[in-house]
Amino acid sequence: MVKFVCDNYNEMSRLAADIMAGQITGKPFSVLGLPTGDTPIGAYMELAKKRLDFSGVSVFCLGEYYPINRKNNQSHYYQLFDGFINKINMKRENVHILNGETDNPDEECKRFDEKISHAGGMDMAVLGIGVNGHIGFNEPSQSLVLKTHLCDLTARTIEENSKFFGSDEVTPHKSLTMGMDAIFSAKRILLLANGNSKADAVSRIFSGAVTTSCPATMLNLHHDVTIIMDKEAAAKIQAE
Ligand code: PGA
Repeated sequence: MVKFVCDNYNEMSRLAADIMAGQITGKPFSVLGLPTGDTPIGAYMELAKKRLDFSGVSVFCLGEYYPINRKNNQSHYYQLFDGFINKINMKRENVHILNGETDNPDEECKRFDEKISHAGGMDMAVLGIGVNGHIGFNEPSQSLVLKTHLCDLTARTIEENSKFFGSDEVTPHKSLTMGMDAIFSAKRILLLANGNSKADAVSRIFSGAVTTSCPATMLNLHHDVTIIMDKEAAAKIQAE
């Protein structure tokens, strides 16, 4: 595991964009896993500014609220298009986002996993991290689910997400999420974390323990993980 501690959010975003740009120029037909949320907004802005050719790149978004209308400006569909895809020349048919409007979530999840395996897995998965250590929406639990699935969000995540929706009552209580299998299929993983609220979860990654009570600790078992943080998110990592 490689870690970078940056002075601030902008520096973290620029470094993440440089690493992602290196992936795309090195392999123009890269398959990426991408998150939404607050964390990657700056990296997407920096990456879009580079005016790279994304016409061969494919994307699988890590999750989607359920149920949610795609036109809802809090949907991951809306966020990924608005924050990134609309600014680059990626082909619409190469963007894969779980359908939060489906009435058959199991089928939707199965189809999504099939598309990822058909694409040969991901070359690079970019991840955020929840305050509770979730990755994608793989929430802390006694066991983690391998396949893409519909999950119940924890009270902590619902509370966090209410910053986007305005109140806990209207915040979705379920999500479709890429499972651990697809995330681990990525050849490289890039995790971004900024701010004090992430410091506990980040420190657990470096604690030396691997536990499903903090899904991000599982990343210790992957062979190619880079973590980029700002100083606040790194503040609780114990000196090695
Ligand atoms: P955030 O969410 O980027 O909005 O903090 C990260 C996550 O929950 O994975």
